[in-house]
Amino acid sequence: MSVLGWASFLHVLAVVLWIGGVFFLDLILVPRLAGYVRAPDERARLLFSLFRVFFAWVWVAGLVLVVTGYGMVWVLGGLRALNGARWTMVVVGTLMVLLALYIYFGPYWRMGRALTRSDWEEAGRAAARVRLFSGMNLVLAVPAILAGVWSVFGL
Ligand code: HEM
Repeated sequence: MSVLGWASFLHVLAVVLWIGGVFFLDLILVPRLAGYVRAPDERARLLFSLFRVFFAWVWVAGLVLVVTGYGMVWVLGGLRALNGARWTMVVVGTLMVLLALYIYFGPYWRMGRALTRSDWEEAGRAAARVRLFSGMNLVLAVPAILAGVWSVFGL
């Protein structure tokens, strides 16, 4: 397989890992948690431990995505050589990565600090913001994936 082929493979693998994880956490697991873990302190601690493991994987997937994404841009002739589909991918993909960084260093860190103070209310608020912005990334993933498919298969 060519370098572009391998980069493409790793790119899609990283997308599946990251976006699939967000989908599962945001839309399946977290909404049902409140019904089973009623104590706010236990719920906040459990959520944070889930986020911690998940974000470790997101760092790996995000790094692979950025390296393979910009690597493919470079192999394809640089930013000036990109067509509409590839530009859409670069812009939406980069936005998603920046949003993920904001989630990590913003509400996720705030949640960790709130937990060390045993401030369950603030931890719950921060967790809700992690979910809100992750949800935005889930929405952005649709045009990003569409742009990728558009780029490979045409309109
Ligand atoms: C860091 C930002 C990103 C950059 C610079 C980037 C760049 C690229 C490039 C250059 C391609 C190849 C297009 C072609 O072969 O014609 C591509 C493909 C693709 N990208 Fe991205 N991408 C980024 C993030 C993302 C994200 C966040 C997603 C999904 C949520 C995504 C999903 C895809 C898909 C599904 C493809 C088509 C399969 C493939 O050729 O690998 N990308 N991307």
